[in-house]
Amino acid sequence: MPEAAGFEGVLDRAGLQDFSVTNIESFWAVVARQRLSWISPFHTAQDCDLSRGQIRWFEGGKLNVSVNCLDRHVHTCPERVALIWERDEPGSEVKVTYSQLLEMTCRLGNLLRRHGVKKGDTVTIYMPPCPLAVASMLACARIGAAHNVVFAGFSAEALAERIRDAQSNTVITVNQGVRGGKVTELKKTVDAAVQGCPTVQQVFVAMRTENPVVMTARDVAMEEEMLKEDVVCEPTAMDSEDVLFLLYTSGSTGKPKGLVHTQAGYLLYAALTHRYVFSYHDGDVFGCVADIGWITGHSYSVYGPLANGGTTVLFESTPIYPDPGRYWETVQRLKINQFYGAPTAIRLLLKYGDQWVHKYDRSTLKTLGSVGEPINTEAWEWYHRVVGDGRCPVVDTWWQTETGGICIAPRPSDPDAEIVPGMAMRPFFGIKPVLMDSKGKVVTSNDTSGALCIAQPWPGMARTIHNDHQRFIETYCQPNPGYFFTGDGAHRSKDGYYQITGRLDDVINVSGHRIGTAEIEDIVNQCSAVAESAVIGYSHPIKGQGVYTFVVLKTDTDIQEADVCPQLNNMVSKKIAKYACPDYIQFVQRLPKTRSGKIMRRVLRKVVERDLDELGDLSTLDDPAAVQEIIQGHRDLC
Ligand code: PRX
Repeated sequence: MPEAAGFEGVLDRAGLQDFSVTNIESFWAVVARQRLSWISPFHTAQDCDLSRGQIRWFEGGKLNVSVNCLDRHVHTCPERVALIWERDEPGSEVKVTYSQLLEMTCRLGNLLRRHGVKKGDTVTIYMPPCPLAVASMLACARIGAAHNVVFAGFSAEALAERIRDAQSNTVITVNQGVRGGKVTELKKTVDAAVQGCPTVQQVFVAMRTENPVVMTARDVAMEEEMLKEDVVCEPTAMDSEDVLFLLYTSGSTGKPKGLVHTQAGYLLYAALTHRYVFSYHDGDVFGCVADIGWITGHSYSVYGPLANGGTTVLFESTPIYPDPGRYWETVQRLKINQFYGAPTAIRLLLKYGDQWVHKYDRSTLKTLGSVGEPINTEAWEWYHRVVGDGRCPVVDTWWQTETGGICIAPRPSDPDAEIVPGMAMRPFFGIKPVLMDSKGKVVTSNDTSGALCIAQPWPGMARTIHNDHQRFIETYCQPNPGYFFTGDGAHRSKDGYYQITGRLDDVINVSGHRIGTAEIEDIVNQCSAVAESAVIGYSHPIKGQGVYTFVVLKTDTDIQEADVCPQLNNMVSKKIAKYACPDYIQFVQRLPKTRSGKIMRRVLRKVVERDLDELGDLSTLDDPAAVQEIIQGHRDLC
């Protein structure tokens, strides 16, 4: 294999895909040498044992992620636009070139260093999408600190929980956030959060609005202090497997898990998927509208595009502000070539009608991407026909916080491959999906369903759960030893294409936000009037899934049901975020339980989905009358 030339031009696309899964080590070694700038080369491409949860790529290699995202492009094209900050107020976008972003990152890196932040520390970033947030991520990478971006819609308590778990000593935030015309008090939220976080020594505060906020001895005025710093910041040489970032996500227990991604493998995978899945070419403007607080923002607003020297959009607003034409007006104004968004927004916008799309010129669009949840046929067709005028491929991309980047997508390698609506379809280079039956055996035939697992490690996958490797092993490696267990179900069509059918565990997906039902139950159960509860996801026309909560009140409470509802909503939005609030609260006398006391969620799900003929085997129920009661109560409520 002629390594200098890479694989392109040597193998055809199909050959390359086969080669990448049968020779993962040489495939990734060549790509890593070709696509990343190394301070010193790696000696071992991979040293992985999925059954033990050991995943190590490019060992012996040293590099700096910020150099890969900035310096090397500054050498070749300093004036190229790296970021377009699409601020909430339409028409007020700010462009940042590669040389400006490098300068910002270096000043910030020096500032953090001067305040004692060093390799091994974790910096929590609680900011909306903006250039300073990206510079904060890259400044951490430059000086060897890990970042922990927390979605700026999370409450003070959710933020505090993540800061504590990450043992973070530094927080970076803005005075206020602006989204959909509304101002949010982010600095105040941080103040409330850090009260319960003894590890936090300093809070850097950037100014998004002109409104001053109360600053304490712990707080540092970020922009002011950055001006005093040098524009050159020596990058720290990092080992391939040093931590790049933690990102918290929900699992099936109440406690969010801090997934750990490392340097080289993550960056390489984000860059390669960004280029191939979306057919990104130099000079294109890439518009991922996800928040940087989620993995989509990390991989496809920041790391993938910047590693490729691309121009990437940071979207601060909402799809309907100031009106439902916002996305398409932005596409026209910024001349976006690839648009990447979530089905929940597409479903919302299609209800407003085609006129909001037709109003704007979308001729620059080349590829439309979808992420985060299944895209139903109606939304897919509308996205394709109306937004893309029937000429742009729609790529439904399946992946997770855990996978680091896209694993299944319609055109991972061949830009002309057939696309079937509503299907992620084909594995990316190096990805070998398998379906497992309920006995843990690999299903080999087509036209079947099963638990989606991945048979071989890939460089972008998470390495562990922060401070809890055992949980990592139990969650992802033990369900099917030797395979990575995704927690999703999938169907493989007769042509061998994958379609994701949804979660197999108690994780639900509300407006593209992943949330464990146990997290919501934990909070509902804290209400003094509540004896117990069960939270179920149900199909929701816009949000994908909604939150349905069954509540059993304590017998000795004199609080009225009508008063409990606002209390529960308040508690959930205060302790997690607004999107996790129940859509329905049904009060019941008891929950259906097995004789051993386990709540039969399967039955609750069927009731809520009105699938009463499919309630299944009820023989293990402790008290079958509970089900009839719940069915009646559900009819009355909905
Ligand atoms: O259930 C799958 C769903 O979102 C989960 C991952 O959520 P998160 O870690 O928050 O990452 C979201 C962005 C990558 C998956 O386990 N999911 C993601 N993409 C799709 C999807 N379900 C169906 N189709 C998709 N394209």
